[in-house]
Amino acid sequence: MITLPAAARLRGRNVLTVSDLGSDELASLLALGTTLKERGREQMTLLRGKTLVMLFEKPSLRTRVSFEAGMTQLGGHAIAVNGSDVGIGTRETPEDAARVLSRYGDAIVYRTHAHEPLVRFAGAATVPTINALSEAAHPCQAIADLLTIRERFGTLQGLRIAFVGDARNNVAISLAEAAALCGMSITFAAPVTHRPSDAFLARLVKLGAPHGVTARAFTSPIRAVRDVDVVYTDVWTSMGDEQFVERNLAALRPYQVDSALMGAAANHALFMHCLPAHRGEEVTAEVMDGAQSVVFDQAENRLHAQKALLLALLTDLRGLTD
Ligand code: CP
Repeated sequence: MITLPAAARLRGRNVLTVSDLGSDELASLLALGTTLKERGREQMTLLRGKTLVMLFEKPSLRTRVSFEAGMTQLGGHAIAVNGSDVGIGTRETPEDAARVLSRYGDAIVYRTHAHEPLVRFAGAATVPTINALSEAAHPCQAIADLLTIRERFGTLQGLRIAFVGDARNNVAISLAEAAALCGMSITFAAPVTHRPSDAFLARLVKLGAPHGVTARAFTSPIRAVRDVDVVYTDVWTSMGDEQFVERNLAALRPYQVDSALMGAAANHALFMHCLPAHRGEEVTAEVMDGAQSVVFDQAENRLHAQKALLLALLTDLRGLTD
């Protein structure tokens, strides 16, 4: 008898936040992602005849192309609808769009602004919905990030990661949740205006309780990154928040990741960024393009992690385990 991996339990489910995944399911997805990465661009037929519908109300390079390339490599097909053509909230309700698209596609990837329409959409869809970024979460990025860390260190449990900058943004939230689930302790470096809530920190500790995970926020970036294994940052102003650019520049300038800050982390520390990056703002060019940077591995791993996710949502995974 074949023992199916924990990720097989994801078949038919939605992934809107990291909390939609159990720790064993996340670990299993990472293992699948590694297997798929080892198999490179091998043309597979596991998703033959399957269609992925992708809705992007905001710009995307990595997410859109990695999902489309992944579907191609797995033998399926992807269709992207962009910008105002999506029409959710203007031409029709999230529920109506979900009911219609469920009749065309086998899964739906949706990048949107507020999280609530995504939840409404997923509630009405009869096929799996994947959050491709909302104001609240970016789970696909977090899965790829952990894949990247795991391939560098061989493990996740017991590692320490620091997120520096806007610690309330979607990338920080999903990264922290995924890290805690996998046994990584997290520190945040942020001014009080961008600091995660105490309730969120407590939630991370609870998520990582089986591993004794800690979660702390500091206003001092040096204190937050001291001896950590990974330093992570993101742009200071998220898509859709452009009216806050000047405010964020002023508040976050002391949180730029530069060589001096990386020097406070462990000697073996990685630098990570979900991209796109603004050299000279949240990170210096020296760090971004330096030896500790794994940002392009992260970007590549979007492909492998999402292929694993698609296979888990759309198949019983026997095609990979046979
Ligand atoms: N990191 C990320 O989601 O990239 P895109 O916005 O280009 O999809």
